[in-house]
Amino acid sequence: MGKMADIDEMMYSCGLEILHPGGMEKTDEMVKMCKIGKDKKVLDIGSGKGITACYLVQKYECEVIGVDLSERMIEYAKEMAKKKGLNDRVSFRSVDAHNLPFEDESFDIVLAECTTVLLDKEKAFSEFLRITKIGGYLGDLEMTWQKLPPEELVDRVYDVWEGFRTMTLEEWKNFYERMGMVDVKTVDFSETILDMEEAMKKELGLKGMIKIGCKLLLHSDLRKAMNQYSKIFKDYVDYIGYGYIVGRKE
Ligand SMILES: C[S@@+](CC[C@H](N)C(=O)[O-])C[C@H]1O[C@@H](n2cnc3c(N)ncnc32)[C@H](O)[C@@H]1O
Repeated sequence: MGKMADIDEMMYSCGLEILHPGGMEKTDEMVKMCKIGKDKKVLDIGSGKGITACYLVQKYECEVIGVDLSERMIEYAKEMAKKKGLNDRVSFRSVDAHNLPFEDESFDIVLAECTTVLLDKEKAFSEFLRITKIGGYLGDLEMTWQKLPPEELVDRVYDVWEGFRTMTLEEWKNFYERMGMVDVKTVDFSETILDMEEAMKKELGLKGMIKIGCKLLLHSDLRKAMNQYSKIFKDYVDYIGYGYIVGRKE
């Protein structure tokens, strides 16, 4: 497992509930653009702890399947759905987003949050499109480049955030269109998140921060990765952005 995935798992195990920027407020905006509603069939790619999946089921009375590569995340998510009594409308499966075990045109909406930056985009989006019904929507909320980054930043990010690849929103839009999607819209909410690290610290609270401190003391590899991770956020604040992209399958 790469360093980025290790850090994600550590953050989750210390109490962080969602890892995507903008929280449920931005998720709501994006799913409304995807025309979410009662009885719609939704797939959440990289569902993590299952918070988005459970939230959507409760709020919109849709049906959601969450998929994640990590068995541990799937266990967290199943536990969460059971606690909330949502097992009849939400389920979770441990699968690779590049090879989805679903029939063609079986979902009204395919969503991803903070996950496709870790995937082979051509391969993954071909799968997402295959399983989306004609007229259905694809929504993706990700960290983006606010402007084209200098090569030195790209190299540092690729080195530290192993596997992470993003684009400017304009590039994301072009990519969606190249994959055959129509009515592609992007929303940039970078200005609402001035400091992603601070936002995470606030959500973790004192107890979570103490837990993280202990883990970092014990694991020097994580400590090193976390320091590099933080430094990138600080040094390149003008380049790192946040946004979502919504498109329709024609
Ligand atoms: C940054 S977390 C985001 C989780 C969640 N969507 C959220 O917003 O909190 C990325 C998630 O993608 C999952 N993931 C990474 N590669 C994957 C793959 N190839 N297929 C499915 N899930 C994957 C990770 O296990 C992790 O749970």
